[in-house]
Amino acid sequence: MASLEIHGGNSLMGEIRVQGSKNAALPILSACLLARGVTKLYNCPKILDVYNMIKILENMGCHTQVEDDCVVIDTSPDLSGIISEEDAASMRSSVMLMGAVLGREKYVYLPWPGGCCIGKRPVDLHLNALEKMNVSVEVEETGFCCKTTGLTGADIDFPYPSVGATENVILAAVLARGTTTIRHAAKEPEIVDMCLFLNQMGAQIHGMGTSQIIIHGVKALKSISYTVMADRIVAGTYLAAAAATGGNVLVYDIDEKDIRSTLDALANMGCGIIVQKRQVRVIAPQMILPLESIHTQPFPGFPTDMQSQIMVCLLAARGESTIYENIFEDRFKIVPQIRKMGADVLINENKAVIRGVSALHGSNVCAGDLRGGAALVIAGLMAEGDTKVDGSIYIERGYQDICGDLTSLGADIRRI
Ligand code: EPZ
Repeated sequence: MASLEIHGGNSLMGEIRVQGSKNAALPILSACLLARGVTKLYNCPKILDVYNMIKILENMGCHTQVEDDCVVIDTSPDLSGIISEEDAASMRSSVMLMGAVLGREKYVYLPWPGGCCIGKRPVDLHLNALEKMNVSVEVEETGFCCKTTGLTGADIDFPYPSVGATENVILAAVLARGTTTIRHAAKEPEIVDMCLFLNQMGAQIHGMGTSQIIIHGVKALKSISYTVMADRIVAGTYLAAAAATGGNVLVYDIDEKDIRSTLDALANMGCGIIVQKRQVRVIAPQMILPLESIHTQPFPGFPTDMQSQIMVCLLAARGESTIYENIFEDRFKIVPQIRKMGADVLINENKAVIRGVSALHGSNVCAGDLRGGAALVIAGLMAEGDTKVDGSIYIERGYQDICGDLTSLGADIRRI
């Protein structure tokens, strides 16, 4: 299992362009299935989750090609609606294929999608919504089979703004007969990017980015070329690393609206924030200020995907901070690991109380999930001495080249 070795103490300085968004690329790769033709996706991140999704598309019958600057997907062949156990287990996002495959093949079999250690990740909101669109769902022991005689539009009112469920309903609705209205839809920027992609293919989606989305079904869509948005969580991760190491980093080709809540948290921690057209600079304070309380929320609230990274920054704050993780039931996985480095963190259900310490010391730690792994890298950058982060494969699921990126900003880090 690959590891990352970090010699802490360097302040991050410089400028960096972040990769394409994992959480936009994955639903967009699913959306390609809704037309027969050749799609070219630019700025598609070269990460394990994207390669896994491409492999699933290949196994369904698509032809794919990963080129230097783009991913080419040919969805012309007849496809199989069956997704293998191995493929589904490889990545949670395989659940997002449901809506797209139903939109095209009227049938999909999906093994229970691989959860991950941040929570049980149920799919009830996805299935309940699809059943309202003339889909019959047969739950089996190993997975579930969805069939339809033809998708029909429906009124869907989500009890919770689930990102994946919102995406699945949109993917099912674009070729459905009639109109679909989604109330309490998720508003994440990645959903907007997927909708912009679909509308360029000929879909009629209105209200994306708001809590009410209306989709008028159309007869057919056409394959297009498209550039995926920047990854707001990778941008936030690197800006948090700058804050944690007394650094000064500019991230460009990012829309500041997509990371506004992260920037607000960093500003409240005493950072200087300079926003210009599609670029953001964070200047670390002499001493990080504690955050009295910060809650993870659906967009535009503070993102759960930035929670571990901000927790690590707060280890250097002068005083006590409190984080409430309201989205996933088990997303404090890094706490036992950072305690090995001298962190003082108390957990009580979904609440973490972080007491700033004068310094962290390097240690051997183990990543257990994608964003937690990135947070452990930040802890290594902050710590005195050397830190080894095992399980860097988790990080490579979402970060194209965390070593190269951080090295370009002055970090002493290498993959072993
Ligand atoms: C997406 O996951 C992201 N993944 C996650 O990013 C992100 O953390 C999450 O949205 C929240 O922003 C992708 O986009 C590929 P949800 P998703 O459905 O769609 C519960 C990362 O690190 N729920 O909004 O699975 C669920 O258990 C990953 O890039 C149900 O109860 O998130 C969770 O508690 C991690 N029933 C909450 O809703 C359902 O049917 C949020 O889940 C679906 C979800």
